[in-house]
Amino acid sequence: MSEGAKREKDERPAKEVRQGGQERRQFRAIKGTRDILPPDTALWNWFEATAREVIEAYNFAEIRTPIFEETELFARAVGVETDVVNKEMYSFEVYESDELVERRYMVANWPWNFDQYDFFRQQIAPRFVETLKIAVDKGQIVRDAANLRIYEEIKTAMADLMDTGVQYGKNAFDRFQSAARALLIGESITLRPEATASVCRAYIEHGMQTRPGDQKLYYVGPMFRRERPQKGRYRQFYQIGAEVLGTSDAPAIDAELIEMLTVLIGRCKIEKWTLLINSIGCPDTPERKGCRPKYVELLRAELRKPEIFSKLGPDSQRRVETNPLRVMDSKLPEEQPVIEKLPKISEHLCAECREHYEKLKSELALRKVPFTESPRLVRGLDYYMRTTFEITSPVLGAQNALCGGGRYDGLVEMLGGPKGIKGIGFALGEDRFVDAIVEAKKIDATRAVDVFVAWMGEKAYPEAVRLARVLRDAGRAVELPAREMKFGKAFERADKIGARYVLILGDDEIASKRLTIKTLASGEQKQMGESELLDYVRH
Ligand code: HAM
Repeated sequence: MSEGAKREKDERPAKEVRQGGQERRQFRAIKGTRDILPPDTALWNWFEATAREVIEAYNFAEIRTPIFEETELFARAVGVETDVVNKEMYSFEVYESDELVERRYMVANWPWNFDQYDFFRQQIAPRFVETLKIAVDKGQIVRDAANLRIYEEIKTAMADLMDTGVQYGKNAFDRFQSAARALLIGESITLRPEATASVCRAYIEHGMQTRPGDQKLYYVGPMFRRERPQKGRYRQFYQIGAEVLGTSDAPAIDAELIEMLTVLIGRCKIEKWTLLINSIGCPDTPERKGCRPKYVELLRAELRKPEIFSKLGPDSQRRVETNPLRVMDSKLPEEQPVIEKLPKISEHLCAECREHYEKLKSELALRKVPFTESPRLVRGLDYYMRTTFEITSPVLGAQNALCGGGRYDGLVEMLGGPKGIKGIGFALGEDRFVDAIVEAKKIDATRAVDVFVAWMGEKAYPEAVRLARVLRDAGRAVELPAREMKFGKAFERADKIGARYVLILGDDEIASKRLTIKTLASGEQKQMGESELLDYVRH
């Protein structure tokens, strides 16, 4: 399907169809999401199994974390200034206290009424405030500044209600009611846009630093980002990722992780790929000044120069103040000549970061992993420091990153975990790997039906059921028609579904206790006893 047609399909609304004189609405998958159907799922399963095999050979163990987490976890870990947190998260409110929901409903919908004012201020309002206080104490309410202000306003309006008789009560009533309506009474949760934050949260929550050695964890599953859908970019997409958490930041860990990715790419027989690496220096810590903030200031000063600033688009102009590093990442063609001339972080690394980066390169060389240095590779998530990397493939089109990752020493501590825990990891896009595998045309993962059981007659049926079970127990994929089919029709169907053999069971076979097997590719037909069957229909 062409890109245009694909986009059009994505944007087509639910269809109205007429069925038996009635309008019926046909549902479609939500924009940016898609169904993955057979036979494509076979390739997805092959890829997942292969990835698990490779990752487990490097001694990683699987971790499964929830698909949603507190919104604040992602805001803190990924960074509020990133596109992911700023505009791409699926966040919603959930309520812990049903009682509070009900009481707020009463307050929010109570009509202003002279006769019932006293009932409202003595019964309805205090009960709501009482339940609200309990919820606040239990941390069941969104605790951002705006919401806490509303909470204060509710308490003040409550005091005014108690002090004010009905003649002057309307003002306090209105303030109380509108504040109650505005209050966010749930907790904000978010569908995970990535899993590094969740893995770190789980690591801290379960005190995994007390387990022996580095924790090498991997995950497989869907992620959610509200990006503009296009080829290779979805709103629900699938990642396989791995993280190493522990006290060491040895560059050998970074290199081994990258080597593992190249092994997986090799298994998938994807030939066209480039590994890009960079070091983005280190941040300030209470103990020492990092090299990145100094570089960022230098970059900002450069970007503010009118002759440079005026050549940037609005997004980059905004980022000069909010996150100048991200300007390096810009893909806008007209910005490229300016960006090429900007100072590069690799020229401003501190001695420790430079040494780490040099060692990373020699460790990659030791493993014969070819790489390209890319001083502009800054990545879109805030937690990175030192090593960043991406593997791109030209077969993918505009969204060309097969995978990406980097080091994030300090993230665990920032999320309230133990001091001194270092981390590095990556995530790969399964959707994109599958596309690249299809493009390379070297892997065939479709699993054909091994045997189609063609049976006719009442006596043949129980034999068909029994033999299908024997074959299935031995691991063969078997299709057993639920209803009798004429042999001609059965052969046609077996052919259509791609079966390799047809086991023919009719009156003759039952009478002679011999089985007839037809190999569909050659048309060859052979008679045999049951003992020979399993050997004959090997897959
Ligand atoms: P990321 O670069 O945001 O990093 O995503 C990693 C990979 O996920 C991308 O290279 C791409 O293949 C795939 N991907 C991202 N967004 C989409 C999308 N909308 N549709 C399809 N595929 C997509 C992370 O997520 C980090 N957590 C990686 C990491 C782990 N860093 C350290 N540890």
